[in-house]
Amino acid sequence: MKHATHLFRRLVPAILVPTMTGLFVSAAVYAAEPAKAGAPATPVKIGFLVKQAEEPWFQDEWRFADQAAREKGFTLVKIGIPNGEKMMAAIDNLAAQKVQGFIICAPDVKLGMAIERTSKRNGLKVIAVDDQLIDGTGKPIASIPYMGISGYDIGKQVGQGLLEEVKSRGWSLKEVGALRMSYDQLPTAHERTQGAVDALKAGGFPVANLFDAAQSKTDTESAFNAANIAFTKQAHIKHWLIFGMNDEAVLGAVRAAESHAIKSDAVIGIGIGGSKTALNEFIKPVATGFYGTVLISPKRHGYETTMNMYKWIVDQQMPPAVTLTSGTLMTRRNQAQLRAQNGL
Ligand code: GLA
Repeated sequence: MKHATHLFRRLVPAILVPTMTGLFVSAAVYAAEPAKAGAPATPVKIGFLVKQAEEPWFQDEWRFADQAAREKGFTLVKIGIPNGEKMMAAIDNLAAQKVQGFIICAPDVKLGMAIERTSKRNGLKVIAVDDQLIDGTGKPIASIPYMGISGYDIGKQVGQGLLEEVKSRGWSLKEVGALRMSYDQLPTAHERTQGAVDALKAGGFPVANLFDAAQSKTDTESAFNAANIAFTKQAHIKHWLIFGMNDEAVLGAVRAAESHAIKSDAVIGIGIGGSKTALNEFIKPVATGFYGTVLISPKRHGYETTMNMYKWIVDQQMPPAVTLTSGTLMTRRNQAQLRAQNGL
């Protein structure tokens, strides 16, 4: 019997469908588990929409969501939604495919009410991941379950990690500048960098040496451009600390420091994430200014959210309103061990 069940779960090849709207829809169809008591009458289909499909973090999330789909034998429809228009088209697309629910990291959390309305109208269940959806007054939408990182605490870990490394390099705080890569319109981004700022201040970091570089988007290129301006303005600073909402923010700033001929060993950057973006830096033969990252869990955000949606559809078991996940400081020294421990 065991063997037969295993055969049933075999993967039917993934389908890539370029649609009329230009979206790339990837639907991985997995053979359903054999019928058992309580199994759903109609095949389960779940959507997973992410704002930046090209970012390694989101690719990891999708990979773990696929794992849940393989285990339970449902169809997972993955769509990149870089803007509001594509997002609305994607939700319509899911409804047309008779998807029962979807997980979403929206391109703009202020689209929360539109997402809620459209989903209700189409009878679709929604779970928010990474970025919590907000209403017109900026309050989180409580009826949409959310899984995200504990942004403030993880930010504090970043700040503490920076200070520890300053100490071990023997730098005098007076000669150190700290660059906050900011994207304050996104609440989790603000919480993350605020945690780092508070930890730095608590450790005696001089407030006058804290500088902001506002990103126009949350990718590496926008971070590079924002940091460039800051480094040009603050050319007198000898050593730099860099932090931001994710690894891409810090990486962009590290590349900008290099382009200003600031030496790698004069820079300590700590990001948040721990996927390929960070890994590519850690495996370079010579250390760059990208010193570390707080490793967070794409498995929890991808696999667990998708499993939660499956249980919601099949067992009418709604997930908790808010689930916050934690992280661990990762550097070149412990990266191999930590990634292995986390099944990455
Ligand atoms: C946001 C960021 C991503 C990643 C996730 C983690 O969505 O844009 O880069 O950090 O949060 O939850």
